[in-house]
Amino acid sequence: MSNVSPFRTSQLEEAAGPGHNPTENPTMGEIIANRFSRRDFLRGSLAVSAIAATVSPVALMMADEARAQGAASAFNFEEVEAGIDERHHVAAGYDADVLLRWGDPLFPDAPEFDPANQTPEAQARQFGYNNDYVGFIPMDDSQDRGILVVNHEYTNEHLMFPGIVKVVDGKLEVTPADKKRVDIEIAAHGGTVVELARENGKWRPVVEGKLNRRITANTEMELTGPAAGHDRLKTNADATGTKVFGTINNCAGGVTPWGTYIMAEENFHGYFGGELPADHAEATNYERLGVPDGSYAWANFYDRFDLAKEPNEPNRFGWIVEVDVMDPNSTPKKRTALGRFKHEGAESIVNKDGRVVFYLGDDERFDYVYKFVTSGTYNPDDRAANMDLLDEGTLYVAKFTEDGTMTWMPLVQGEGPLTAENGFNSQADVVIEARRAGDLLGATKMDRPEDIQPNGSNGKVYVMLTNNTKRTEEQVNAANPRAKNAFGHIIEIAEDGGDFAATTGKWEVLLKCGDPSVAEVGASFSTATTENGWFGMPDNCAVDSAGRLWVSTDGNSPEATGRTDGLWAVDTEGEARATSKLFFRVPVGAEMCGPLFTPDDETAFVAVQHPADGGDDWEGFGRPSYYEDLSTRWPDFKDDMPVRPSVVMITKQGGGKIAV
Ligand code: FEO
Ligand code: CA
Ligand code: CA
Ligand code: CA
Repeated sequence: MSNVSPFRTSQLEEAAGPGHNPTENPTMGEIIANRFSRRDFLRGSLAVSAIAATVSPVALMMADEARAQGAASAFNFEEVEAGIDERHHVAAGYDADVLLRWGDPLFPDAPEFDPANQTPEAQARQFGYNNDYVGFIPMDDSQDRGILVVNHEYTNEHLMFPGIVKVVDGKLEVTPADKKRVDIEIAAHGGTVVELARENGKWRPVVEGKLNRRITANTEMELTGPAAGHDRLKTNADATGTKVFGTINNCAGGVTPWGTYIMAEENFHGYFGGELPADHAEATNYERLGVPDGSYAWANFYDRFDLAKEPNEPNRFGWIVEVDVMDPNSTPKKRTALGRFKHEGAESIVNKDGRVVFYLGDDERFDYVYKFVTSGTYNPDDRAANMDLLDEGTLYVAKFTEDGTMTWMPLVQGEGPLTAENGFNSQADVVIEARRAGDLLGATKMDRPEDIQPNGSNGKVYVMLTNNTKRTEEQVNAANPRAKNAFGHIIEIAEDGGDFAATTGKWEVLLKCGDPSVAEVGASFSTATTENGWFGMPDNCAVDSAGRLWVSTDGNSPEATGRTDGLWAVDTEGEARATSKLFFRVPVGAEMCGPLFTPDDETAFVAVQHPADGGDDWEGFGRPSYYEDLSTRWPDFKDDMPVRPSVVMITKQGGGKIAV
C-alpha cells in the first residue's frame, strides 16, 4: 500500500517548478482563507462582523442601490445561492441535464458501463474520465447537428476503482496499480469526439455517429513543425522523432476557425518515472518542467514513461495537439510551432488581416502568457488550405509593464539571447525549451496562467490567473498585484490598433478575486456583486455570441471560500463592469470546466470534473471520500454506481437564449 497521490490537477500543479517552496508553512492567503472560513459566514455571525469591519455603510448603501437598479448588467437571470451539497444547481428557469457521463457508450458496439468489472477495451469505447475542455463544431446549417469534443484530463483511481482503498488514520491508502488498472487509466485519458443531435431544444449524443471517436493516451500521433524529427525527440521506439503514442493531461483546448479540435497537454510531468541517466543533456530542461513526478504508475509497465529507458520521451509531450474531427481515422498532430510547456488551452481568433492568433497559458506558478500568430491566412472557403496553418508562425511571450502597456516578444532562434551560445541551435531547441527562452527574454512571471479568451465583439482578451500563494511581497508587480495570491485575478488585454497580431498592447486588471467583504483579501468585485456572486480561482472561461464573459473556477471549497466551484457571469462593460453573478454550481469535490456556448447561445455546456474528490472539509460529509464511501454519487445517485464526471447541458425552460 502506498499513500494516495495528489491526483487533483490543481495539486499536481503545486508539485514542481521554480515556484515550488519545499516548506509546508501556511501562506498568508491560506491563513486568511481559513480565518474567514465561509462555513462561519453561512452560519452568520462572523459574516456580519467581517463586513461591518471592512466595508463602509456608504459602500453598502451604494451596493444596495446598484442591486436595486440592476439595469446595467448584461446578464438577466436570478442568481444561484452559493453553497455546498451533493448536487448541481442552476439558475431558476433553466434546465441542467446530464448529457454524457464517464463510461457512457459512444459506439453501437460499446459495452454498457459496468464499473465493478471495467476493462481497458470497454473504456476505450466509452466516454473517458474527468471531462475538462468542451468544444462544439456545427455540422450543417440547421444548427441542430453538431460535434462535441471533450478532453479527458486525468484519472482519480480512488474514485474509479472498487476495492483498492483503505482508510488508515483518516488518510486514504491506495493499492499500487497493476497493469490492467494502468491500461484502463490510459484508455480513460485523452478525448472524445461525438456527434450530437437536437430535438425539442435538447441535445443527445448520437451513438451511431460516423464521426464518433475516442482518442486515448495510446493513440498514434504525428509530431509536426520545427521540432519534428529533431534528435531530441527520437526514442528507441521511434528513430524518426515524428511518431508518438498518445496525448496526456489534456486540460483546456480550443476549436480552430477551420473546425479542428485542439487538445492542450498540461501536467505531463506526472506520468513519467525512473531516473534520467547521470549528466544527461536534458537534465535542466526536465528540471524546469518538474519531470519526472511519478504520480502515476505507468512507467512500471511501459518503458516510454521510464526516463532511464527512454530519456527523450518527455520531449514528445507538452505540446498543442490538433485533431481533424471530420475524419475519424485521421492522425492527430502535435504542432510543435506553438511551443512546449504546461499548456492550459488554445483559444483563437481570426485577425483582421486573416492571420489566426492563438492565446496560450502555461499553468504553473511564475510561468508565462504566450500567443502564436500563424504566417499564413485563414481561408474560409477552403478548409483543406487551413489544415497546416499551425506549422508556421511566430510564438510570442508576454511582458507586462507597470505603466499598463505590454510587449509580445518573439521566440525566434537567432534573435536576442536565443542563440547557439545559450543552447538554442535551431528553432527546435527554442520550442522544446520555450520556458527557458521566455526566461532569457525577461517575460513577466505570472500567477498561473490558465484559459485565455479573445473576444471578437470588443477586441479584448481575458487572461485567467488562477492563484499563486508563493508570490512574495518583493515579487509583486502591477500585473500580479497581490502577494500570497490565494484567489487569483483576471487581466484584460487590448491589443494595439485592435490588431490581435500586434506586438504591443495595453492591459488592466479586470478583477481581483476572493471575498470582497474581507478587506485583507483585496478583492475588486463591483459593489453590485452579492455574497453569492464573488468567486476565487478563475480557471476556464468562455465568451458567448453576445461577447459576454463567463468564468468557471477550480479550487473553491468549504475551507477556502465556503462554496463549491461554479460558472459565474462577469460583466465587462459600462457601470456594471466587474459585477459577477453565480449561474451554476457543481456538487461537492468537483471543479467546473469547459464552459461553452453553442453559436445560437441557446445551450451552455459545462464539464463537472472530479466530483466527490474531497468533502472532508464539508460538514455534510467530513471524512475522506473514495469509491466505497463517496461524498456524492452524482449524477446517478444509485448505490451500485460510483460518482461520474459528466458534461451537463444547460438550456432555458421554454427555449431561447441564455441569460438574455
Ligand atoms: Fe488543468 Fe490548469 O488546469
Ligand atoms: Ca486549474
Ligand atoms: Ca484548467
Ligand atoms: Ca475557453
